[in-house]
Amino acid sequence: MAIVAPSLLAANFLHLEEECRMLDGSGADWFHLDVMDGRFVPNISYGQMVIEFMRRTTKKPFDVHLMILEPEKYAEEFRKAGADHLIVHYEACPNLHRNIEQIKSLDMKASVAINPHTPVVLLSDILQDLDTVCVMSVNPGYGAQKFIPHTLSKIRELRKLIDNWNLPVLIEVDGGVTVENAKDIIAAGADVLVAGNTVFRSKDPVDTIRQLRDIKVSKGI
Ligand code: DX5
Ligand code: ZN
Repeated sequence: MAIVAPSLLAANFLHLEEECRMLDGSGADWFHLDVMDGRFVPNISYGQMVIEFMRRTTKKPFDVHLMILEPEKYAEEFRKAGADHLIVHYEACPNLHRNIEQIKSLDMKASVAINPHTPVVLLSDILQDLDTVCVMSVNPGYGAQKFIPHTLSKIRELRKLIDNWNLPVLIEVDGGVTVENAKDIIAAGADVLVAGNTVFRSKDPVDTIRQLRDIKVSKGI
């Protein structure tokens, strides 16, 4: 069964509390929270203050995706706001190992995201230090984009690396995930599905989350 992490970027922010409570009562495993700085990505979203409010609505893990430069400046603040997992971008961290050590020292799970153009093999000397790799299946910055099909071969390659070394690292896939393509994504080796528009724009978000969780395939095809 896949871990499902709905992305609040697609939520109705006028009814944020309602949206959070809906997720809390649903089968969603994690809350995926997208932080954008208008520098690493062209868009600006929300930050620690909003996350702190969301934290009051649920005890589910907060999977905080930092699409920002210099994430080390803010790691502690996001921990205080309620982050359980911190995702930093490979492309934003020239001293990535130091970022990972910092995240762990703050008692959070450490994850690295790679953009569509970043090869999986660049993670080979950091993989053993990670809890999760987030494979971006769109260019980060916006919701509601189309899944880039080449991502599937990146997921397969990463699955092989992780399995060959017998590492307990999860593969998360972020961007353009739908109920239709989720089967192929899981079959390629993904453990965690992030879904924004697929969940929040559906008629019945709770049922859509259930459908994503219920997809069963044998991995490694
Ligand atoms: C994109 C974000 C994603 C986004 C996914 O930059 O990292 O988490 O919210 O949205 P959908 O599922 O709509 O592509
Ligand atoms: Zn994200």
